[in-house]
Amino acid sequence: MLKDTTLLILAAGKGTRMKSDLPKVMHELLGKPMLWYILRASQKAGFKNRLVVAGHGHELIIKELKLGTGQHVLQKEQLGTGHALQVAWPVLEQQDCEWCLVVNGDAPLLTESHLDLLCAQVKQAEADMGIISLKLEDPKSYGRIVKNNAGMIQQIVEAKDFQADRHGEFSGEVNSGIYLFRMKSIRDILFKLDQDNNQNELYITQLIELGITKGLKITSFCAGDCPELLGVNSPAELVMQEEYLREKIVLEAVSKGVIIRNMTQVRIGPDAVVEPGAEITGPCEIYGRSMIGAGSRISSHCHINDSTLKNCEVLSFSHLHGAEIEPGAVVGPFARLRPGTVLGSEAKAGNFVEIKNSSVGAGSKVSHLSYIGDSILGDHVNIGAGTITCNYDGQKKHKTIIESNVFVGSNTALVAPVVIKQDSMVGAGSTITIDVPSGALAIGRSRQKNLSGKNPLKKT
Ligand code: UD1
Ligand code: CA
Repeated sequence: MLKDTTLLILAAGKGTRMKSDLPKVMHELLGKPMLWYILRASQKAGFKNRLVVAGHGHELIIKELKLGTGQHVLQKEQLGTGHALQVAWPVLEQQDCEWCLVVNGDAPLLTESHLDLLCAQVKQAEADMGIISLKLEDPKSYGRIVKNNAGMIQQIVEAKDFQADRHGEFSGEVNSGIYLFRMKSIRDILFKLDQDNNQNELYITQLIELGITKGLKITSFCAGDCPELLGVNSPAELVMQEEYLREKIVLEAVSKGVIIRNMTQVRIGPDAVVEPGAEITGPCEIYGRSMIGAGSRISSHCHINDSTLKNCEVLSFSHLHGAEIEPGAVVGPFARLRPGTVLGSEAKAGNFVEIKNSSVGAGSKVSHLSYIGDSILGDHVNIGAGTITCNYDGQKKHKTIIESNVFVGSNTALVAPVVIKQDSMVGAGSTITIDVPSGALAIGRSRQKNLSGKNPLKKT
């Protein structure tokens, strides 16, 4: 079925109700845009052909979601959901599919099973078109479904257009914005849509009425009050859907064997993997392609993005982005590990330590108040408090290499490029500008003088 179906995602609208310049479908839930979720569902469902109708902010959408040519069409002027389908029509025709499944781009939590189910139902009913309806306590701004006495769908009337005396009784079901159309059945009605409505738009939903007039077979399938099919039209709805997803991800992790304390304040992105046997205490945020391995413990107030943690400990208030932490290592509290940081096994990055694009060998310790950038540290290195790698000369970044078993005294400036060879020691307070040979003691500071009786405050 999916081989002869193209998925069309309507994502051109500005989303005025979001009160933001960002295209609506680029607003994020747990660190990923709405449209990312729909593309993922379509991928999981196995759609070979999928097409995004982009309009407002299309450059950003195409760039961020890496949509290649042939994967999007431009709806320059957004004249309504029906117009979006009209704009995409020539491209859909070229794809030579029997069916077109249309989804609104603002229902980020729809799943592949909803799409599968609609396709199966329409096929089974041998219908020309089908929609998924919802039954909500509050039908809000959703399109109202009008049915005949036999319970068959006759019309979808937008909330702004609905008048009981004109449209008859509201069935209690609303339109989810997911439709399956047989291409050849709607070919000659699609361009008959009109703008004769309160929003002066071309509504995709008018295809129901036009289809009925033409004698097409149309089915609807009710998904009840399924929260995953709700649309996002406002910031309030965005955070509501995000909260639904957050809870679902956290509960799933707990049921698989992750210990999550203060569960209501833990946010795990859809792409992150947390292995059973890991432990997280909220509030905490874990996003991107993070992997939290079994045995890892993350204390409260940590923010972790695109990082891999293997059986290690991350203490409170640490911020990790693009870091890799080996088993037995300890991070924080109050550490910041930036992209390219690799912390070896049993190593330590302690409080107020920032590390960027550097590897720290096994058992090495950067315990307090240091900046390590563009560096390679061997095994069992000790970096004293207040040590800074001066990696930037104002124009270029340079490397610092500190070989194994080196001891760097406190408050040292290592001016890169520089190599501190193995088994050497750097005296506290040094400014090191030339390489230190293996086994040497390097001291780069002026010698202390004691001027007896010269304390200017103590005149005797
Ligand atoms: C739409 C339906 C409504 C349904 C609801 C479900 C219509 C006329 N109404 O209303 O029956 O209950 O979804 O959530 O379809 N879009 C375009 N181009 C346009 C206009 C919109 O691509 O010219 C896209 C938007 O980016 C959005 C989707 O279509 O992703 C739906 O548009 P929106 O304005 O949110 O429609 P609703 O008023 O929610
Ligand atoms: Ca909507």
